[in-house]
Amino acid sequence: MKKYTQIQDISNLSETIKEAILLKMNPFEYENLGKRKTLVMLFFNSSLRTRLSTEKAAKNLGMEVMSLNVNDAWNLEFEDGTIMNANTSEHVKEAAKVISQYADIIAVRAFPGLVDKEKDASEYILKSFEKYATVPVVNMESATAHPLQALADAITISELAEKPKPKVVLSWAPHPKALPQAVANSFVEMMQELDMDLTITHPEGYELNPEITKNTPINYNQEEALKDADFVYVKNWSSYNDYGQVLNKDRNWMMTKEKLGHAKFMHCLPVRRNVVVEDAVLDSEQSVVMHEANNRTYAAQIVLKEILESL
Ligand code: CP
Repeated sequence: MKKYTQIQDISNLSETIKEAILLKMNPFEYENLGKRKTLVMLFFNSSLRTRLSTEKAAKNLGMEVMSLNVNDAWNLEFEDGTIMNANTSEHVKEAAKVISQYADIIAVRAFPGLVDKEKDASEYILKSFEKYATVPVVNMESATAHPLQALADAITISELAEKPKPKVVLSWAPHPKALPQAVANSFVEMMQELDMDLTITHPEGYELNPEITKNTPINYNQEEALKDADFVYVKNWSSYNDYGQVLNKDRNWMMTKEKLGHAKFMHCLPVRRNVVVEDAVLDSEQSVVMHEANNRTYAAQIVLKEILESL
């Protein structure tokens, strides 16, 4: 693997999931692979899981890790040809090349602004690093995708599924703030790649990018969609059509124990209790959110391993 910015960078998904599960059983098997190699992690936005699990994954492979909260560094310019006489102090052209002097792999977290749809869709931060860095780039959640989370979720479903093609429902949830579509996008793409029996349910107006959902069934009736589900992945996202808007704060879309039925409850975390999901679900045996969080390490580790092997 030469980079991991989208789930399509994985050439053999089922093999990669199997290998990640093997790594989980023996996390230090490749502890010398990353010796004298450095991962630099760049955070334009907050993180708990991605930051710690990716660092742990890199250290399991023997790598050195450096993290930079980019907002504490120089304000970066991304436009070409700008006269930089305002707020930006350093162009990404220099910054990405400089960081490449210290890194063997660069990982980037950069959320969307959720104001300018085209600008967010251009993935200008992630793509600038891909363009100007001279080392491989890993996406730790960008404007439109969270492929490390999706891989962890795929590993989780593979481990816990009791049938070859479980019914998986992606269910929108209320949230007081406008959130990106990135997690939902990558989860949908991952379930499509794995040919799962996927249904998406959300209120009208919350349709995801049709280039991502393709022919995945969408049901505006949550109760109907959840019927006989094996896994329910709950996530809020803001409107894609009315870009970045919060259209509906209907608490009825919150996941409850009653709605969940016998399904396993999934969420990428962080999650707002009793807004997105009620306590009774999160605190129950049906919740697999800690399983997912644990698998973040092995998703990152298999990706870093495959990139290190390609250097
Ligand atoms: N799920 C996830 O990406 O968590 P963090 O935002 O804490 O990294």
